[in-house]
Amino acid sequence: MDLSLRRPVQRISAEDGDLHRQAERLRAVGPLVPVELPGGLAAWVVTSDVLGRELLVDRRFVKDVNTWHAWRRGEVPADWPLRPVVDTPRSLITVDGAEHRRLRAPLARALTPARVAALRGPVGAIVAGRLDALAAAARLSPDGTVDYRVLFAFPVPMEVLGLLLGIPAQWYGRLRVLFDDFFSEAVDVERKLAAVLGIRGLIAELIARRRSEPGDDLVGALLTAVADDPYTDEELIGTLLVLIGAGHETTVHLLVHGLRALLRHPEQRALLAARPGLWPAAVEELLRYDAPVATFFARYAAADVRIGDADVRVGDPLLLNYLAMGRDPGRYGDDAGAFDAARCPVGGHTSFGYGPHACPGAQLARLEAVSALPALFARFPGIRLAVPDDELERFPSLMLNGRVAVPVRLDG
Ligand code: HEM
Repeated sequence: MDLSLRRPVQRISAEDGDLHRQAERLRAVGPLVPVELPGGLAAWVVTSDVLGRELLVDRRFVKDVNTWHAWRRGEVPADWPLRPVVDTPRSLITVDGAEHRRLRAPLARALTPARVAALRGPVGAIVAGRLDALAAAARLSPDGTVDYRVLFAFPVPMEVLGLLLGIPAQWYGRLRVLFDDFFSEAVDVERKLAAVLGIRGLIAELIARRRSEPGDDLVGALLTAVADDPYTDEELIGTLLVLIGAGHETTVHLLVHGLRALLRHPEQRALLAARPGLWPAAVEELLRYDAPVATFFARYAAADVRIGDADVRVGDPLLLNYLAMGRDPGRYGDDAGAFDAARCPVGGHTSFGYGPHACPGAQLARLEAVSALPALFARFPGIRLAVPDDELERFPSLMLNGRVAVPVRLDG
């Protein structure tokens, strides 16, 4: 390990189980913590929100995985569980500076605030349809138990992305399996590779269809936006892979955490019932309190950098722990660990990232949560978990803070 250390190295993996506890353990060590990842790979983890924001705009930290010394030296095993997350096709998420601006600009021209605003009605209809499906499934279930993740939290963002990108509805089930395999750190390397190939194949088909049949969905708008300065096919596939991968699973987990947090905090639910105008603030609080992206393989040092008493060396990887950053008392005060729907911290939270790579889908995710969660509680005021919250199986990932299944009863 060639990280320069003044602190003991912390081991982290998806098997730690409770990722919030892991985040607290790391924060107790300091704002920048040397860690050993699965496979014995060394990295730094940022736990402080203030430091995280500083580093996300520091040009000495870059996205190109080839900067990572272990990667260049071939020390990252083929079956390393996080490999597909760092080894993605070239896209806006793998480059910086002028190249990043080149690849991000067409997306910004295609995913406009007006396009997102126009989805308000259709998102409401998708939510209503999924609430009906939940009710119908509960009627058929022998004990009334239904899976909120499978029947609501997963399909709402999938149908919204389907609408946005023109994804045929018959692909949804397959995409669910492929993305679960893509993000899970518990599946073997063959299944991971098959997932990557399967997703790429579907995306290539989506692009081919839109090229032969122009349409005004986001893929069509992206193809128009790149007409003057074309993306390569690899860049187009990479961008859509990021859009679907980053845009879907994250929103699933936001909807899951929304249900869980409000069931655990009935007083906050009562507050929202009395003041529904607080819902947008409550969604921001959910993102801060239970960040869907737990640990992000964010940047690599392109130079030696001294941070506090740590010497970060050129080629070292830097991970951001958004769970620790979201509950950083240095930023949010002593009650940072409490869920307070009316908190509205100055400067917001960092769960959508910060700086040039900050999430371009944030408004869409907000729209989905602000549509879905109030409608869910209005339709099923007696909804409750069918098992204790701490028994919900965690999604096997260091990167995503999620649950595998969320059994609920709708009737209270
Ligand atoms: C980037 C979080 C939803 C598309 C990011 C980043 C974060 C993030 C933390 C920054 C990555 C970095 O620093 O490199 C989330 C969360 C979401 C969400 C928590 C939901 C709750 C979405 C949606 C879309 C989307 C709905 C699109 C439909 C993207 C893209 C990037 C990105 C394309 C890459 C931006 C770039 O590198 O310039 N997201 N995201 N995300 N997100 Fe999201």
